[in-house]
Amino acid sequence: MKTSGSSSRRHGAALATPLLLLLLLLLLQVAAVPAQTTTDPTEAAALNAVFAKLGQKASSAWNISGDPCTGAATDGTAIDNNPNFNPAIKCECTDQNNTVCHITRLKIYAMDAVGQIPEELRNLTRLTNLDLGINALTGSVPKELGNLTNLVSLGFGSNNLNGSLPSEFGNLVKLKQLYIDSAGLSGPLPASLSKLTTMETMWASDNDFTGQIPDYIGSWTNLTTLRFQGNSFQGPLPTTLSNLIRLNDLRIGDIVNGSSSLEFISNMPSLSTLILRNCKISDSLTSVNFSQFANLNLLFLGNNSLSGSLPSSIGSSLKTLDFSYNQLSGNFPSWASGNSMRFILPSGLECLQRNTPCFLGRPQSSSFAVDCGSRRSISGSDNSMYQADDANLTAASYFVTGAPTWGVSNVGTFLNAPNGSYTIFSSRQFQSTLDSELFQTARMSPSSLRYYGIGLENGNYTVTLQFAEFDYEDSQTWKSLGRRVFDIYIQGERKEQNFDIRKAAGGKSYTAVKKIYTIPL
Ligand SMILES: *[C@@H]1O[C@H](CO)[C@@H](O)[C@H](O)[C@H]1NC(C)=O
Ligand SMILES: *[C@@H]1O[C@H](CO)[C@@H](O)[C@H](O)[C@H]1NC(C)=O
Ligand SMILES: *[C@@H]1O[C@H](CO)[C@@H](O)[C@H](O)[C@H]1NC(C)=O
Ligand SMILES: *[C@@H]1O[C@H](CO)[C@@H](O)[C@H](O)[C@H]1NC(C)=O
Ligand SMILES: *[C@@H]1O[C@H](CO)[C@@H](O)[C@H](O)[C@H]1NC(C)=O
Ligand SMILES: *[C@@H]1O[C@H](CO)[C@@H](O)[C@H](O)[C@H]1NC(C)=O
Ligand SMILES: *[C@@H]1O[C@H](CO)[C@@H](O)[C@H](O)[C@H]1NC(C)=O
Ligand SMILES: *[C@@H]1O[C@H](CO)[C@@H](O)[C@H](O)[C@H]1NC(C)=O
Ligand SMILES: *[C@@H]1O[C@H](CO)[C@@H](O)[C@H](O)[C@H]1NC(C)=O
Ligand SMILES: *[C@@H]1O[C@H](CO)[C@@H](O)[C@H](O)[C@H]1NC(C)=O
Ligand SMILES: *[C@@H]1O[C@H](CO)[C@@H](O)[C@H](O)[C@H]1NC(C)=O
Ligand SMILES: *[C@@H]1O[C@H](CO)[C@@H](O)[C@H](O)[C@H]1NC(C)=O
Repeated sequence: MKTSGSSSRRHGAALATPLLLLLLLLLLQVAAVPAQTTTDPTEAAALNAVFAKLGQKASSAWNISGDPCTGAATDGTAIDNNPNFNPAIKCECTDQNNTVCHITRLKIYAMDAVGQIPEELRNLTRLTNLDLGINALTGSVPKELGNLTNLVSLGFGSNNLNGSLPSEFGNLVKLKQLYIDSAGLSGPLPASLSKLTTMETMWASDNDFTGQIPDYIGSWTNLTTLRFQGNSFQGPLPTTLSNLIRLNDLRIGDIVNGSSSLEFISNMPSLSTLILRNCKISDSLTSVNFSQFANLNLLFLGNNSLSGSLPSSIGSSLKTLDFSYNQLSGNFPSWASGNSMRFILPSGLECLQRNTPCFLGRPQSSSFAVDCGSRRSISGSDNSMYQADDANLTAASYFVTGAPTWGVSNVGTFLNAPNGSYTIFSSRQFQSTLDSELFQTARMSPSSLRYYGIGLENGNYTVTLQFAEFDYEDSQTWKSLGRRVFDIYIQGERKEQNFDIRKAAGGKSYTAVKKIYTIPL
């Protein structure tokens, strides 16, 4: 009975079908327009927790009506290099039933965010891009970031973190870009990173990584950019680096020991920037054919133990080159005296060479004082007359005063700061000194700054060096991050290693530090 009853109803339904279908279609279309999507609740909760911890708030462009995956987060608004959309997220709402959105990108860039990297980030499991660069984040890197196995690009450079890279980062097997320069990290790079064979870009300069540069980096054969300057890596450089034939930007510096060879660069025809500074490389320059680097724009091999003479030919794209502080010999080759690279030398160079007497027989002098970078002479509270020092020094230049006399030379280019200045100025009041005005100008050098006393009479000397940091301000923001660290040599002897002006001043900028050295005859 039941069966027949339902069967007769089916007949009735069949008749009505065209109308019903039409109604259904209309309903579907109406439903599709307002796109009833919501953010995955776990991800929304995690994002809100992350923002609460880092003191961030979504702009009015998204999180409309309290749901993060709305507005600019789901339309065509670009997130990279877009200062108007920061902090920012991007979502993807393409699940099978098109109702759940997942957060795929998160950017909190240069926002002065303070605190630890929140471990709630681990719940944003769909993230492909995470950028926490240039903030004031502290503490260690949470191992939970290793759970974000969809990450293609990860950045937390320029922060105040500490500790080492977690070995869980070896799980990030889709990673192509890792930006962790100036992050405050230390210790060896974990062995598990050998699994990151899809890597293309690695910025890891200015940390305190130790141990050897791992052999496995040579198996990241898609690598195009590798930056490893300013760490404490041991030598020698791994020979496996010669497998990185796609590299176009290679920067390694400050290898603490061992002796390395230069030959590994011979397999890298695409190089456009090559910096191997202070890497204890002891080859002869003739071991490499420099004319094969057709795209080479910047070549910096300073402060190694390279021998032999300058190459007789070089790639035609070369614009900047620095071989200073090596054991080279021979003459300048023809490319070095051509039109593109002229050598117009001001007078006095001979006076800066070791063992060359200059201005002897003039009235003898036994002291001088210089106010570095200053346009006028200033008399100090110690009764010294600090002479002006306003020569416009550039990437490779020097200046020698008239007798009685001193000189100054500078080497180095500011690589990532096209407007980088070799002198800086501040009108601020300086602490811990009676001579605030003396500190208002200073010279800066990306590589080497030297002062020479010339024509001084023989004897024991006292050398007084006075410093104050003012390139980085004192504040709780990322603007106070950054390090300037250098060695101090007097008469060729190292007096200070990794000297950090601000550290010596008790962590304060705008505070004078005086170093006094007695130099025997
Ligand atoms: C993150 O996920 C874990 C489970 O994996 C859960 O216990 C935790 O509550 C989540 N956190 C947030 C903020 O949703
Ligand atoms: C989004 O808006 C809701 C409701 O106003 C708020 O509770 C939440 O914190 C906001 N989320 C973000 C990431 O700003
Ligand atoms: C489809 O939506 C339902 C309810 O919102 C959800 O439980 C399910 O996981 C979704 N399916 C997919 C594949 O996302
Ligand atoms: C790392 O930084 C945190 C927070 O700034 C601090 O509490 C901790 O002692 C530091 N750890 C080390 C090993 O320096
Ligand atoms: C996170 O990764 C660890 C291994 O590093 C794993 O044991 C754990 O199950 C992962 N957690 C989640 C929620 O995927
Ligand atoms: C290297 O890049 C190419 C594309 O340029 C890609 O096909 C290949 O899978 C990549 N290799 C690895 C190990 O990711
Ligand atoms: C470099 O120094 C480390 C630590 O002092 C030492 O273990 C290593 O053997 C040294 N390497 C070379 C090549 O001298
Ligand atoms: C150096 O490389 C250039 C360009 O690839 C090539 O023409 C030249 O023959 C090479 N010189 C030597 C000595 O191999
Ligand atoms: C130059 O190299 C020497 C010897 O390797 C080293 O002691 C010194 O610190 C280096 N100086 C710079 C500025 O890199
Ligand atoms: C250095 O350059 C500035 C600005 O170009 C100029 O005013 C000044 O006179 C120069 N100083 C010297 C000593 O040439
Ligand atoms: C650098 O200088 C150029 C030209 O003087 C100027 O247009 C540009 O804004 C400056 N860039 C920075 C970052 O100061
Ligand atoms: C220089 O100093 C040494 C002690 O370091 C002393 O013996 C010597 O007499 C001094 N010479 C002069 C000329 O003062």
